[in-house]
Amino acid sequence: RIAGPSGLVIFGVTGDLSRKKLMPAVYDLANRGLLPPGFSLVGFARRDWEDQDFAQVVHDAVKEHARTAFREEVWQQLAEGMRFIPGDFDDDKAFEQLGKAVDELNASRGTGGNFAFYLSVPPKFFPKVVQQLKKHGLADPPEGSWRRAVIEKPFGHDLASARELNAIVHDVFEPDQVFRIDHYLGKETVQNILALRFANQMYEPIWNRSYVDHVQITMAEDIGIGGRAGYYDGIGAARDVIQNHLLQLMALTAMEEPIAFDAEALLTEKLKVLKSVRLPEDLGAHTVRGQYAEAWQGGEKVIGYLQEDGIDPRSKTDTYAAIKLEIDNRRWAGVPFYLRAGKRLGRRVTEIAVVFQRAPHSPFDSTATEELGQNAIVIRVQPDEGMTVRFGSKVPGTSMEIRDVTMDFAYGESFTESSPEAYERLILDVLLGDANLFPRHQEVEESWKILDPIEEHWTAHGRPAQYASGSWGPEEADEMLARDGRSWRRP
Ligand code: BG6
Repeated sequence: RIAGPSGLVIFGVTGDLSRKKLMPAVYDLANRGLLPPGFSLVGFARRDWEDQDFAQVVHDAVKEHARTAFREEVWQQLAEGMRFIPGDFDDDKAFEQLGKAVDELNASRGTGGNFAFYLSVPPKFFPKVVQQLKKHGLADPPEGSWRRAVIEKPFGHDLASARELNAIVHDVFEPDQVFRIDHYLGKETVQNILALRFANQMYEPIWNRSYVDHVQITMAEDIGIGGRAGYYDGIGAARDVIQNHLLQLMALTAMEEPIAFDAEALLTEKLKVLKSVRLPEDLGAHTVRGQYAEAWQGGEKVIGYLQEDGIDPRSKTDTYAAIKLEIDNRRWAGVPFYLRAGKRLGRRVTEIAVVFQRAPHSPFDSTATEELGQNAIVIRVQPDEGMTVRFGSKVPGTSMEIRDVTMDFAYGESFTESSPEAYERLILDVLLGDANLFPRHQEVEESWKILDPIEEHWTAHGRPAQYASGSWGPEEADEMLARDGRSWRRP
């Protein structure tokens, strides 16, 4: 799978995402031979830069963040196709200049009129940028070529704003021209959920309410908000990662087999799951939000969320969120899905744990199974990519005692191939026009329908609980599961 003649225009090219992820991803793709020889990269931002200045910035970003080794000849070829357009998004002249750059690249580099426009900009600029692209004739593909828009989250901050945003984008681009990035779908381990479930025979028969007790999906980060106060405050953990990443993980874990591995079929099945989600009636008892507080974390004293630079000391923004959902269908009725995400937790780990019911009967006396937990299949999304199966085994010795053991699959041990960075995979897919790994607007809207009532409940009731940085979240979250007779895993 090698991209055909094409180019990529990045708006907001001076941002962090662009420097840490997008530029290195483009280089890595080129280095792996997955981009066409004339591939071109155009940066657009409010900077007084020439093409060479831009190329220098890309160069530095590549040196610092690329996954693959630096090769001068690959770099040279890529750098020759770099252009920079200075200007802000209101500036018609800048968009005219962009149009000229696109024409010039079609002629000099053979990009064939095929361009993707990557909006790596705060959402308030989305409308302006897409309207400018339309006004300057950049959104409509010339005969025989394509134009695509890539948008980064957040796709709105609630259902109403997401709908508004979708309407604005679809006024300019057809739905199949729009690629919404949820970088979790670009992760190898996330794509593997469907391989695991549907390319094998041994998991599906037990992947349902007859055997599964509950599912826990955890996205824990050990970092705080860093320099992102402006983005994060007022957004919080639930909107930042549950609305998108965690609900996507849940949909992939819970969905039925798609009739084919294509964007349409995947959308159909994911949507069915999202539409079947039922929120608990008592949101106070089955959702928890928290804020990290000052504490010692890993031998270092870290400040609390309310002390972070740029955060209103009265902020009610959640840096931790846990919610219980149920999926009302034949496969999952009565099986809770517990989702939690937080910053400044014990360690960085994302995992999906499918926890099974206990055996219906045990021929062993109760002392034999005292230490036995519930069977579980844990998909380790990151950082220790792989899968663990936990089950009971007899402890060697003269008496019958059964204890939990684990069986592990680790990417590093089973494969010599390395995983591409999520953004590499996703940018390549955009250039190929492969929409499998991109959430559609319907999914985005359904996800907000799930989150909106929770956010409204939180706004109307109290404040987030405080939790010590480096811990596993507020006590209230443990109590939430304890009420159901369950407990969170300690990854
Ligand atoms: C982003 C969130 O979508 O995902 C960030 O906005 C978060 O707050 C990041 O830190 C985590 O991504 P990853 O790939 O490091 O798990």
